[in-house]
Amino acid sequence: MLASGGGTNLQALLDAPEVKPWISLVVSDRPRAGALERARMACVEAVVLEPGGFATREEHDRALAETLRNSGIDVLLLAGYMRILGAPLVRSFPERILNVHPSLLPAFPGASAVRDALDWGAKVTGATVHMVDEEVDHGPIVLQEAIPILPGDDEAGLHARIQAVEHRLFPLGARLLVEGRLKVEGRRVHILGPGSDGDPGSAGTR
Ligand code: GAR
Repeated sequence: MLASGGGTNLQALLDAPEVKPWISLVVSDRPRAGALERARMACVEAVVLEPGGFATREEHDRALAETLRNSGIDVLLLAGYMRILGAPLVRSFPERILNVHPSLLPAFPGASAVRDALDWGAKVTGATVHMVDEEVDHGPIVLQEAIPILPGDDEAGLHARIQAVEHRLFPLGARLLVEGRLKVEGRRVHILGPGSDGDPGSAGTR
């Protein structure tokens, strides 16, 4: 799991009994990220790789790739990781990287999605869990849920409502990925098994 911030999404994953056993490493680019403390509290290895310690973005990415390799990582979850992964790193985890983003992609990509939706005057925004490809906030969408923007909403209040939804969607997306239940066809992601495309059962929102 890669995280730069407070780590509420990491916490939601750690609190999900079907997902927790899969989380073996948390890497952050920021030594003060709350996510690191949450990882340590849950006895999950926590590593800091500060970009300032590397001459180039590529070198930082190579160190990250080596850390992941040394820990035998085969699935990456990005929760509020505020750095762009370079193409070689993305290519070494084909359809094995999930990101959670606080908007209904493709609307409002980027680092200030909640503020951008408010500034735009949008009436609806949302949360998206998607596969990561080589473009920013662009890969095939796995799960998505809309959230109304209410008159008088400010960024913090709206973000909190979006995060409440993220905390449901991200553990579900992670579970579907590690259980091998996501089949990608071009831009479309099919959910296999219970709650699949053909079975509106229990897998949840999609
Ligand atoms: C989450 O809301 C996530 O969607 C957002 O950062 C927050 C991290 O919160 N990500 C982005 O904006 C990526 N463009 P957390 O550290 O409490 O999980």
